[in-house]
Amino acid sequence: MKFFIDTANLDQIREAQELGVLDGVTTNPSLMAKEGITGRNNILKHYVDICEIVDGDVSAEVIATDLKAMIKEGEELADLHEQIVVKVPMIRDGVKALKYFSDKGIKTNCTLVFSPGQALLAAKAGANYVSPFLGRLDDISTDGLNLISEIRLIYDNYAFETEILAASIRHTMHVIDCAKLGADVMTGPLSAIDGLLKHPLTDIGLEKFLADYQKGN
Ligand code: E4P
Repeated sequence: MKFFIDTANLDQIREAQELGVLDGVTTNPSLMAKEGITGRNNILKHYVDICEIVDGDVSAEVIATDLKAMIKEGEELADLHEQIVVKVPMIRDGVKALKYFSDKGIKTNCTLVFSPGQALLAAKAGANYVSPFLGRLDDISTDGLNLISEIRLIYDNYAFETEILAASIRHTMHVIDCAKLGADVMTGPLSAIDGLLKHPLTDIGLEKFLADYQKGN
């Protein structure tokens, strides 16, 4: 399972990278705005800064919503750095753009996916990643994890190579549940990754080992 961090915060990206388990980064316009990164040039520079911190794929989202503009913007993003993956929304022109980029060998991540049908369409159009937003489904009392298992079943039935990127992960249990269900990738906040290493019995056990060592020395 690949671990992506879902943030545009460079300190958090560095911290996850230093832990040694980071495979990539996802961003979106809201995450950029949260860090105060505004204006086209600043946003493009920020993507490059992120690419220089991590080794893996970095998703950069197009703002355009019509095919022609999406293609222009996506090509510009892809030219920024070899690690850039063009993030395209699941809309009609987005599906066409996914197919266009796929034919041109530009990597894509289909975002804002909330149903198995949308995920099937993204795979048919050749998306490298599909991003089902499970946290946002949970927010409206719908089982987000169930969507992950439905997409897994469909993709396995036809051996689609599109990777399931479980997105909108909110906490550590989401990560574990997605791993059980066979999501290829998870993207979440640093806190969801950090939560994986915590267990009180580890802390108690280590404290005792160190105390016992001190008694004998
Ligand atoms: C995915 O790529 C999105 O950036 C993200 O996971 C959305 O998460 P949110 O629902 O917590 O905003």
